[in-house]
Amino acid sequence: MSDPIGVSLLGAGNVGAGVIRALTAGSERYAAAVGRRLELRHALVRDASRAREGLEPHQLTTDLDVVLGDDATSIVVELMGGEEPARSYIAEALGSGRHVVTANKEVIAKHGAALRDLAAEGGVRLLYEASVGGGIPIISPLFRDLLANDITAVTAIINGTTNYMLTAMTQDGADYADALADAQRLGYAEPDPTADVEGHDAAFKLAILCGLAFHVEVGPEDVVQRGITQVTARDIRYASTLGYAIKLLAEGRLVDGELLASVQPTLIARDEPLSKVDGVLNAVQVEGDLVGRVVLEGPGAGAAPTSSAVLADVLDIARDIVAERRPPPPQAYRSMRVRSPGEHHARRYVRMTVADRPGVLGEIGTALGARGVSIASVVQFEVDEDARTAEIVLTTHTGPGEALESALAEIAAAEVVVEVGNVLAMAG
Ligand code: NAP
Ligand code: HSE
Repeated sequence: MSDPIGVSLLGAGNVGAGVIRALTAGSERYAAAVGRRLELRHALVRDASRAREGLEPHQLTTDLDVVLGDDATSIVVELMGGEEPARSYIAEALGSGRHVVTANKEVIAKHGAALRDLAAEGGVRLLYEASVGGGIPIISPLFRDLLANDITAVTAIINGTTNYMLTAMTQDGADYADALADAQRLGYAEPDPTADVEGHDAAFKLAILCGLAFHVEVGPEDVVQRGITQVTARDIRYASTLGYAIKLLAEGRLVDGELLASVQPTLIARDEPLSKVDGVLNAVQVEGDLVGRVVLEGPGAGAAPTSSAVLADVLDIARDIVAERRPPPPQAYRSMRVRSPGEHHARRYVRMTVADRPGVLGEIGTALGARGVSIASVVQFEVDEDARTAEIVLTTHTGPGEALESALAEIAAAEVVVEVGNVLAMAG
């Protein structure tokens, strides 16, 4: 066998350690699959004085020039996370003629287009399978296996932390604060959970999926984002009674040549596959004209599953190096109008507390009807005999968000309405 193919890491934390373990344990198998050995060269870290399993001290560095100055390194694997310096380091690695593999959803969602251009200019590859859905193969299937399809929708549960929390709230009746504390104790949620619970993490991932599925340049700013912080145990109980689970659903859809992209807590009917994806699992559902509906489900995070995706990219590039194959031409992207939140058509769940007396529903119905919002069902859940109030949930037929919002502004101000509690999208 000829010289090994050098692989260097930028970042040797949770995922980096998993990649090092797998590279070591699977070295014979990988060599057989590729036709050449893979050799771990350097790992860039913040603290090079700390020992890392599977690495000799001389392999650790805090200096990018050490990595890029190593002629034997052909593949650079970025596993640092965050926007900077990860973006600049990836750009420098591509500019130096290295192939790059990254798990960084923020960098790819925000700067994917510029970095792909850089890679194309340099005749090298930039792969990012681990950036969405951890161990679930979804980037490569969208890029290759589903390419023949006209894809009309991608719906996904792509944040394990919030899915764990919503599952705990559903199955154990936990409230939001307890579910978050539990997720932090188990290491799923960061000490600052904002990126997960506010939907930013899922929005980065959805932007990447939409770009690949629809061949449109989509950034996180194009994704309507709403997190799970307003979801109460009460909403989950009521949704369950109505036959739905509440999930943080990421959805990209083409409607009349326009893109709708959103991450928001959504009621999903219990007979839909995504409603049954529980705990830290992730799942992505793709709808294409030829294939119909495909659902991919699996572990969305964790060192070993994420290493599986990272190393799939590394091995793919290594095979190209051995075969002396040039990178495939870059995908052509089209431009498309992105719909504003008010233009998103959906069925919706509305929880409100109202005076428990005759004529109240008539007043609410009139305000909704005046804006063309059609009520699908009304259920009265709880009555406070002392306050003479009742909590009701109404669901609407499909309609634009702006019409409901305008009606709810009038309803909230009505004397018979104590509070409009929560408004949630319903899938389908
Ligand atoms: P992590 O445990 O925090 O590790 C980050 C690594 O990068 C550490 O080795 C750290 O060095 C190094 N690093 C960070 N900033 C640096 C800087 N400015 N200069 C030099 N080194 C720096 O992160 P992780 O959980 O492994 O995640 C890595 C990437 O994978 C992220 O993009 C993440 O979104 C993505 N990802 C993670 C998972 C998961 O399950 N964790 C799943 C899917 C995707 P020190 O070790 O010296 O601190
Ligand atoms: N924080 C992410 C999640 C894992 O909870 O799904 C890394 O993508």
